[in-house]
Amino acid sequence: PVGAPDKSFAKKVTKVGVIGAGLMASQFALLFLRRLEVPVVITDLDQARVDKGLAYIHDELQKLADKGRLSNDQHNRLKALITGTTDRSQYADCDWVIEAVFEELSVKQDVFAEFEKIVSPETVFATNTSSLSVDQIGAKLEHPERLVGFHFFNPVAVMPLVEVVNAPKTDEATLATAMQVAKNLKKNAIITTDSTGFVVNRVLAKVLGESMRAVDDGTPFSVVDEALAPLGLPMPPSVLLDLVGLKVGAHVLDTHHAAWPDRFYRSENLHRVADNGPLLEKDAKGKVKGISKDAERLVKA
Ligand code: 3HC
Repeated sequence: PVGAPDKSFAKKVTKVGVIGAGLMASQFALLFLRRLEVPVVITDLDQARVDKGLAYIHDELQKLADKGRLSNDQHNRLKALITGTTDRSQYADCDWVIEAVFEELSVKQDVFAEFEKIVSPETVFATNTSSLSVDQIGAKLEHPERLVGFHFFNPVAVMPLVEVVNAPKTDEATLATAMQVAKNLKKNAIITTDSTGFVVNRVLAKVLGESMRAVDDGTPFSVVDEALAPLGLPMPPSVLLDLVGLKVGAHVLDTHHAAWPDRFYRSENLHRVADNGPLLEKDAKGKVKGISKDAERLVKA
C-alpha cells in the first residue's frame, strides 16, 4: 500500500539540478525556476545541447514577459537564476537533482552513480523515467533510499499531474520531499508503486499500442485518428505520439510489452517512423496538417 509520508520529514530545496536539457528536462527546469524561484542548473552531454535547453527557457521566459505574466523584475530575477553548464561540480550544492536523460536503464544508473559522488549525502535524487523501474535505476547508488520517481507529463506547463513513484527502497524523507516539491510546483501529485508504466502510461500504452496495432494491420494512420476522435481524447493518437516524441512513445510500448507480452503491443513500424519520420506534416508555424506521406509510406513498406 502507498501511504502519504509524514510532511515534517520534507527537506528544503534551495537549489535544483536538472540532468538533461532535452524536451522534458528544459520544460521542467523552467517550471522549477518559475515556481520555486531558486537557482536552477541544467547540464547535458555537451555545450550545444545545454545551449539549446537554455535557449528554450530564455524564449519561454520572454514569451511570459511579453504576455505580461512576468514583471520586468521577475523576468530579470529568473534569468539570473538559470544556468547551464557541462561542469558537474556545479551540482555539489543542489539539494534536489532530477534527471530526464535517455530512457535506457544503464544510462540512468550511471548518471546517478556519477552524481552521487558530487552531491551531499542529504541530496534527494528524482527520476522522470516514463516507465522504467525506479528501483533498478537506483541499483548503482550507495544510498538508493534517496531516489524517488517524479514523472511529469508533456506539456509540463499545462498538464496538472505528477506521478511520485515510491520505490521499495525510497525512504520517507525522500517521499515527503517529493510531495512537497510537487505541491510547490502547483501540481497534483499521486503516489504510485514502482510498477511498469506506473498509472498513466499503462493506460496510454494501451491507447497508443492498439492504435499502432490497427496501423500495422493496414489501417492508415489518418483513419485511426479519425476513428478515435469521437472518444473525446484531447488529441488524436498521431499528435500525442508527436508531442511525447516518437522514440519515447516507441520505448514506452516496448517497456510495457516486455513486462506483459500478452497484454501490450509493441510496434516495429513506430520505430521505423521514429528513425526515418517525420510522422506529421506541419505548416511553417508548426500547425499540424496531417500524417506525412513519409510515415504512411514507411508503415506500408
Ligand atoms: N507547451 C507549453 N504550453 C502549451 C503547450 C506546450 N506544448 N501546448 C499548449 N500549451 C498551453 C497554451 O499556451 C495555453 O495556455 P494559456 O491558456 O495560458 O494561453 C494552454 O496550454 C491551452 O492551449 P490550447 O488553447 O492550445 O489548448 P488545447 O485545448 O488545444 O490543449 C493540450 C492543449 C493541453 C496540450 C491538450 O491538447 C492536451 O491535454 N493534450 C493531451 C496531452 C497529453 O496527454 N499529455 C500526456 C502525454 S504522456 C507523457 O507526457 C508521459 C510520457 O512519459 C510519455
